[in-house]
Amino acid sequence: MLFTTSLVPVLALCGLVSARTVEKRTSRTVSLYAYGGATNGAPVFYDNGMAYIGWQPESSTDTTATNITFTVDSSDTTVPWTIAANRTGQSNTTSPFSGSPMLYIVPTSGAFEQAGFVTNSSSAPTGAVTTGFAWFGTSVAYAASETDYQLMFTAVETGTDNLWKLYWNVNGTRYANSTAVTLKSTPPSRS
Ligand SMILES: *[C@@H]1O[C@H](CO)[C@@H](O)[C@H](O)[C@H]1NC(C)=O
Ligand SMILES: *[C@@H]1O[C@H](CO)[C@@H](O)[C@H](O)[C@H]1NC(C)=O
Ligand SMILES: *[C@@H]1O[C@H](CO)[C@@H](O)[C@H](O)[C@H]1NC(C)=O
Ligand SMILES: *[C@@H]1O[C@H](CO)[C@@H](O)[C@H](O)[C@H]1NC(C)=O
Ligand SMILES: *[C@@H]1O[C@H](CO)[C@@H](O)[C@H](O)[C@H]1NC(C)=O
Ligand SMILES: *[C@@H]1O[C@H](CO)[C@@H](O)[C@H](O)[C@H]1NC(C)=O
Repeated sequence: MLFTTSLVPVLALCGLVSARTVEKRTSRTVSLYAYGGATNGAPVFYDNGMAYIGWQPESSTDTTATNITFTVDSSDTTVPWTIAANRTGQSNTTSPFSGSPMLYIVPTSGAFEQAGFVTNSSSAPTGAVTTGFAWFGTSVAYAASETDYQLMFTAVETGTDNLWKLYWNVNGTRYANSTAVTLKSTPPSRS
């Protein structure tokens, strides 16, 4: 009897809290940083429609590259993660793209392909998805289903130091010149 009376209010409170959490739309703007191998917290950036990891594009005069921020929805995996140019501190503040391109990966069976951005999902490569992105703890995941969260981002060397292509590696197979990475919204700490 004592147990029942003391437990009921606690359970009722829990119910209220979780109902409120589910209803709340949580969209925020973040930069994403790669951790793993030598990436060491280098940011994900945009270059000519594709996703790269690094502090600098290959050429400092590359006008198709830009730092970016992602608008991420952590309550609904059916909402695409869109990007905007972050030109803070740059002399040229013009974005190399228009609109709000969506992040895509190619998660088809056995795929090992670079991630990128499209404004219209019908112009994405075959097998690409622009939805399903989610957080698994503090890391970016792809939710293939409600119970299958995958962390298969990989940094592929470009031949230029400290510059990688961001890939999605469906099988987790080890490829030459690549290293598994996790993407986080936390910048590296600099001392
Ligand atoms: C945008 O870039 C500036 C300069 O690099 C940086 O300080 C800021 O944190 C970035 N914004 C976001 C939301 O990451
Ligand atoms: C990102 O910002 C840094 C610091 O402002 C700059 O040096 C770098 O060139 C930018 N990267 C791109 C891809 O524009
Ligand atoms: C400024 O950046 C935009 C987009 O990246 C580019 O098209 C344009 O040529 C750049 N302007 C100058 C003066 O570099
Ligand atoms: C990769 O995935 C493909 C397709 O699912 C499968 O046939 C293949 O055996 C996998 N390879 C490895 C190394 O897991
Ligand atoms: C997306 O692309 C398809 C096929 O090219 C086109 O029919 C559609 O109008 C486009 N949608 C938008 C919003 O541009
Ligand atoms: C890996 O990098 C080495 C040295 O840059 C290069 O010779 C080799 O072709 C690369 N392998 C692949 C699979 O890209």
